[in-house]
Amino acid sequence: MDLHPSATATLPATTTDWWRSAVVYQLYIRSFADGDGDGIGDIAGIRARLGYLRDLGVDAVWINPWYPSPMADAGYDVADYRAIEPTFGTSEDAAALIDEAHAAGLRVILDIVPNHTSDQHDWFRAALAGGAAERTRYLFRPGRGVDGELPPNDWQSVFGGPAWTRVADGSWYLHLFDPTQPDLDWNSPEVRAEFESILRFWFDRGVDGFRIDVAHGMVKADGLPDVGDDKQEMLGTSDRLDHPHWDRDGVHEIYSAWRAVADSYADTLEGARIFVAEAWAPNAERLSLYLRPDELHTAFNFAYLDAPWDAAALREVIDGSLTTFAGVAAPATWVLSNHDVVRHVSRLGRPVGKGHTLSSLSPIDTLDLELGTRRARAAALLMFALPGSAYVYQGDELGLWEVEDLPDEVLQDPTWERSAHTERGRDGCRVPIPWSGGASPFGFGPEGSTPWLPQPAGFAGVTVAAEEADPGSMLTLYRSALRLRREHPELGDGELTWLPSGPGVLAFRRGPGLACVVNLSGEPVALPAGATVLLASGPLPGAAVPVDTAVWFAD
Ligand code: GLC
Repeated sequence: MDLHPSATATLPATTTDWWRSAVVYQLYIRSFADGDGDGIGDIAGIRARLGYLRDLGVDAVWINPWYPSPMADAGYDVADYRAIEPTFGTSEDAAALIDEAHAAGLRVILDIVPNHTSDQHDWFRAALAGGAAERTRYLFRPGRGVDGELPPNDWQSVFGGPAWTRVADGSWYLHLFDPTQPDLDWNSPEVRAEFESILRFWFDRGVDGFRIDVAHGMVKADGLPDVGDDKQEMLGTSDRLDHPHWDRDGVHEIYSAWRAVADSYADTLEGARIFVAEAWAPNAERLSLYLRPDELHTAFNFAYLDAPWDAAALREVIDGSLTTFAGVAAPATWVLSNHDVVRHVSRLGRPVGKGHTLSSLSPIDTLDLELGTRRARAAALLMFALPGSAYVYQGDELGLWEVEDLPDEVLQDPTWERSAHTERGRDGCRVPIPWSGGASPFGFGPEGSTPWLPQPAGFAGVTVAAEEADPGSMLTLYRSALRLRREHPELGDGELTWLPSGPGVLAFRRGPGLACVVNLSGEPVALPAGATVLLASGPLPGAAVPVDTAVWFAD
């Protein structure tokens, strides 16, 4: 194992607000590293690669759901919140991972899925087998129409089709996602108590925080009224205020209770335990409500992920985020990719446009991967220079692109079936990581193993081993940026001051003598006189900053 627990790296002594500036690495466990050769990533794989993460220079890892699951939605269908999916390992493996991560100086954030369980969870099995009492933890309702043969309302599943499924006795249950993911009823005191107990279960085992799945979905409007004529994008984005099941005010009560649970651990050895919300709110003001001092610590900033590669648009999102989050004393967060969206190399390599699903982007023949990679390098330096905390999705640091040509028969995202094969879904950003070698499995698993999704031959050029040896690689850029970010804490949370710049250029100061410029205009721009380059996302011929290039400099 490439880890030396005796190494000097340990959790930083000042523990209280580590999360305000943290760079968090998202571990999509089934695609990170396969320790046992079954083609699926696992805890053993992560343990063997902790040294890689430490050397990359991130502060924390967020691990996608690792609980027992039928895997109808890649683990977001949880059958038991207090155990480990056998394909991924055992509870002992999990405990060892938490300890070893801490010894390597890395915090551990888990994923909690409170909007729905798996249909294989004991509660749902009891609900199907039992009567009214067993069903109060979920949302069972009679249907409409003659004999109740129509769903109780017009709600649509995020994955396509109605959000209701009928059971043998004729009643229907709600599932905003797949039919195998029944929604819990958060009016039930038992549901509330259970999730607080689950939080304590993992906090007691040393985890440092939780990413809250679909944090904007748990509370539904009384009477479950129709949505009406609202276009609903994948993942539950809606611009509408007062939507009957997204971003309802009632969720905030849940989060103040959760914050009290987290705060009760503040005096323990590991220090602050934190939350990051996956909340797709209609605007920054609504999002900031989740971050009030007695609620959640941070939330993903999807407006940033969604912003096109355009200086004015980015500046608007950056200013808007900084102002709104500062209003509730929360740090901003920045994210470019995750396991639900098209990888940003492939988004940025297309004509300027907005969208993060394959169907919302321009066709593949408009994709220019070289352009996308150049912009992704600049985007990384921009993100790591912004105040607050940043998220790296595994493979971002290698410059991985979306695998858009996976054969139909290997697709596993429920979106593919539920949309009657009109939406390919999210598998293209979930392809297993290439570590080394010239052919699949590229070191993801032992020689001869077959990864759960096929890796393209082109991954040979972007393996960790290849990039470690290349001073011009994306990996080298990420390592340099994260090292500098550690050496210059002023690059973390704090003030940002815009510098005068021409159209299409973002230039800002992050403390005395430290600034960043990103050129999104159509022509090279000069660096200020007296600037000393600390790091550049690409070559700087003639001391000018070329198009689609970012530079950190001292002056
Ligand atoms: C979140 C997850 C996504 C999952 C969904 C349902 O959006 O990120 O992967 O499918 O919730 O749990």
